[in-house]
Amino acid sequence: MCGIVGYVGEKACERILVNALKNLEYRGYDSAGIAVFEGDKIKTVKAKGSIDSGLSLKLDREPSLKAVAGIGHTRWATHGEPSDINAHPIGNARISIVHNGIIENYRKIKAFLIDKGYSFESQTDTEAVAKLLDYNYNGNPTETIAQTVAQLEGAYSLGIIFREHKNKLFAVRKESPLIVGIGRGEMYIASDMTAILEYTKEYYLPDAGEIAEVTRDGVTFFDIHGNVIEKEINIAEWDVTAAQKGGYEHFMLKEIHEQPAALKNTLTPRISDGIPSFEECGLTDEMLRNYKNIYIVGCGSAMHAGMVGKYVIEDIARIPVTVDIASEFKYRKPLLTKDDLLIIISQSGETADTLSALKLGKEIGADTLAAVNVTGSSIDREAKMSMKTLAGPEISVCSTKAYMVQCAFMYMFALRLAYARGRLDEAKCKEYTSKLLEIPELIQECIDRKEQYQRVASKIMNASSLLYIGRGLDYALSMEGSLKLKEISYIHSESYAGGELKHGTISLIDEEMPVIAVATQTYLYSKTSSNVEQVKSRGAKTIVICRDGADVNSNIADYVVRLPETDDLLMPLVAAVPLQMLAYYTALDRQCSIDKPRNLAKSVTVE
Ligand code: F6R
Repeated sequence: MCGIVGYVGEKACERILVNALKNLEYRGYDSAGIAVFEGDKIKTVKAKGSIDSGLSLKLDREPSLKAVAGIGHTRWATHGEPSDINAHPIGNARISIVHNGIIENYRKIKAFLIDKGYSFESQTDTEAVAKLLDYNYNGNPTETIAQTVAQLEGAYSLGIIFREHKNKLFAVRKESPLIVGIGRGEMYIASDMTAILEYTKEYYLPDAGEIAEVTRDGVTFFDIHGNVIEKEINIAEWDVTAAQKGGYEHFMLKEIHEQPAALKNTLTPRISDGIPSFEECGLTDEMLRNYKNIYIVGCGSAMHAGMVGKYVIEDIARIPVTVDIASEFKYRKPLLTKDDLLIIISQSGETADTLSALKLGKEIGADTLAAVNVTGSSIDREAKMSMKTLAGPEISVCSTKAYMVQCAFMYMFALRLAYARGRLDEAKCKEYTSKLLEIPELIQECIDRKEQYQRVASKIMNASSLLYIGRGLDYALSMEGSLKLKEISYIHSESYAGGELKHGTISLIDEEMPVIAVATQTYLYSKTSSNVEQVKSRGAKTIVICRDGADVNSNIADYVVRLPETDDLLMPLVAAVPLQMLAYYTALDRQCSIDKPRNLAKSVTVE
């Protein structure tokens, strides 16, 4: 989604702003721009398209800018098509702004301002904010901003410059992410730490409604009434190399390879006396004993991790679990009560639908437990309890290592819940936990077997549609496999519970429709094999993903992908890897834009 950056210091800022914007490219965008203090004017350069093909080319044609302060933006169109005019920064001769989020009452503001004589040239909601700031401007930026944000409805983070306040940046947020980075003799604003990680690891996190006034010497935070607020400095745990490709052709491939380390980082510090512990986020055994139901919400891959969680929790803890797509949760009047626990899963911690679901859960009075990968993100801050998944920055739009650690979180939760509720005794819980800690090695083994995925990829790359089937946990996992494939290779696919095929979908099967059967659950293996046989006899090309020791009938499987073995319960963690790598190599064979698939953005901050 949109990205915001800002710099004030003593260096020429054009290169820094463009570089910081490039660090945000992974989020997906359709136009980019910067506005800087040049002489006694604000100079704006913006263009539709990628930074290289649009903004940078335009900047190359300009006399080099000497400015030492400015703001920049990558836009992912919501209001108005991608165009030079709709690109940010947006404003006029005395005010310029960059904006993430959506202003819900922008039409009303626009009508009001038109009535006051303003005219509008873009189709954006952002222009209403820029002009409202101009209308409210009284010479005092923080007062003007406070008055303006009081009139805004919706979610936003804003970077603002005023011509009359040269070399100062102002910023404010509500629900959309924003940080203020601290350098030596220079300061930054950004919507995402990865934008400025190569310049600084120290940052402030403004809370909703707090206004930052940033100069090269530091930042002052004001509340809405103009009182100065003291804030703590945070230190980013991520290393700059984590946000670089490090020799891999794609971030996705790098992130697949990072999974063993991501899992270890997420699991190890949470194991206490051989059992997962949620003490760090204040979740006690007594609380776990008292919950009546568990609800899990998330979007896309995060929701799929929740599906794995449902199967595991219901299996070992014997408590009902409802998994919801976050965008559905809010509008279907969920039966969640204050006696339940709502688990929120999100890599970015900023997904608008997921954040709304969390807010609804809080309104209802349920306890909320977040699993987020970004410390200080909105969901991290908003949830009553939050446990960080420690995957490091995930740059590829297509989630891999973040999904893996979300699943790991679900296993830890399920084990502790089952233990706390007396469904698993200590010995059994410790046995599962120690097997869980062995998974990183098995994942490494899976990654090392890449030839099998490459071979299958070359066989399915020309398919226009395919099916994933599985039963039990294999079904929960195959949903993720199907999403990976369609997301990056643009081959349509669906995932089906193996037993459900015969109720309609099997009519689709012919020679053109490959079927990938995930068959890692020993107690369901013969059932899934029968489903494979059914589709094989109707002409499908079949790919069976199974354990090393599985007895596969070569008459029904055209290709077999074998995996190192562990307990049935934990197999999804292992089997996720071939599904990711199959999608990766298929997309590679089809020459797709793997890290930035069309139409997608990394963090979806609009509903
Ligand atoms: C798929 C993918 C998305 C995200 C979803 C939720 O590969 O990445 O489906 O999982 O948009 O994002 P977060 O986890 O940031 O809330």
